[in-house]
Amino acid sequence: MWLASGAVRRSHALALAALGALLLLLLAARVPPAPAPPRPAPLAPAPAPPAPSVPRANTTAVVAAAAATSRATPRPTTRSTARPTPRPTPGVVLTRDLYEAGHEKPHPELCPALGAKVQLVVLVTSAPGHSAARDAVRLTWGHYAARRDVAFGFVLGAPPAELRAAVDAEDALYGDLIVGRFVDSYSNLTLKTLSMLEWVDTYCPRAPRLLKTDDDMFINIPRLLRFAAARANATNTIWGKVIKKSLPKRTSKSKYYVSPAQFPGKVFPDFATGPAYLVTSDAARALLAAAPAERYLRLEDVFVTGVLAAKRRVRRQHAPEFLNKKVAAHPCAVQRAVSIHMVQFHEQFDLWRKLLDGKTKCAS
Ligand SMILES: *[C@@H]1O[C@H](CO)[C@@H](O)[C@H](O)[C@H]1NC(C)=O
Ligand SMILES: *[C@@H]1O[C@H](CO)[C@@H](O)[C@H](O)[C@H]1NC(C)=O
Ligand SMILES: *[C@@H]1O[C@H](CO)[C@@H](O)[C@H](O)[C@H]1NC(C)=O
Repeated sequence: MWLASGAVRRSHALALAALGALLLLLLAARVPPAPAPPRPAPLAPAPAPPAPSVPRANTTAVVAAAAATSRATPRPTTRSTARPTPRPTPGVVLTRDLYEAGHEKPHPELCPALGAKVQLVVLVTSAPGHSAARDAVRLTWGHYAARRDVAFGFVLGAPPAELRAAVDAEDALYGDLIVGRFVDSYSNLTLKTLSMLEWVDTYCPRAPRLLKTDDDMFINIPRLLRFAAARANATNTIWGKVIKKSLPKRTSKSKYYVSPAQFPGKVFPDFATGPAYLVTSDAARALLAAAPAERYLRLEDVFVTGVLAAKRRVRRQHAPEFLNKKVAAHPCAVQRAVSIHMVQFHEQFDLWRKLLDGKTKCAS
């Protein structure tokens, strides 16, 4: 997946050299009143900052969401007038049977004042072993996390025992790893996105927009902020690369196999592809609330931006700026795009340089 370590080190060193100059440019051009100085890598692992006591949003919405996602919801047993519990169809697994609410590492401080001053929350799904990809993001477009109006974090599942120490050390250094209560695995990607929605609903409910993205993506944050600002009045909407009339794969050999028990319909609802999509906060809340009662589908994007969105009538709006694919990286292509997919470690630095390129004239 990654380059041999020698090549990585070389490109890393080059990139770091270029980075100093770029960072100066960036900081001069842009605004964060007092960006945090880059944290020096300590020789010994830095002591973990004291765990802040967790302020939970005191809203009925949160309580309701937590209750809805809790497995312990008591069923009424006394009254015969209570609606009978529907018999589960054999083979059907509901999302509430898999999703455990809460976060092992919540990092509420990533969203001060519940997001009152935040325009955009950017959450990046990542796997415990992807520390190099996270570093590439932090060293490039992740710098926009220094803006006061942007909240930023990575979302992971619980690491396997052999990676736990490394994840803890990385988190002690950067403090940006939000960890949910599920085993991190490909089949559990849907749980990761639900964990992300729950985090926003709990710790950042006042921020108007969430970008869900992955650690192999390049995101043009200034372009995304302009995109969001031009649609500031929209509610109940998901923007991204919208796929229509996609069919479930019914041959069990496919990586994307979906059984009729997981999805009984013939055609998937329109959905926005998983690498990057933007969601209004009311939609994020509605999607989270709809999840527990639905059949679990491990195709994260189909489930969250298709099945749940259809259930709650969340609008899915196609936006061509969300390329969500690899592009021949001309500076103008990079500057016009919101999201570019399949970005390897060294490519993050190339795209970052092209984003900040001030020499090429691009017709916007
Ligand atoms: C939380 O909400 C409840 C019910 O609305 C209210 O009684 C209580 O004072 C609130 N607590 C805080 C800390 O705001
Ligand atoms: C998904 O997460 C759940 C909850 O942690 C865990 O029990 C299950 O084994 C995980 N599934 C896979 C395929 O890793
Ligand atoms: C949002 O609505 C307000 C009030 O109707 C209007 O003044 C403003 O131009 C709108 N903004 C956008 C981006 O459409």
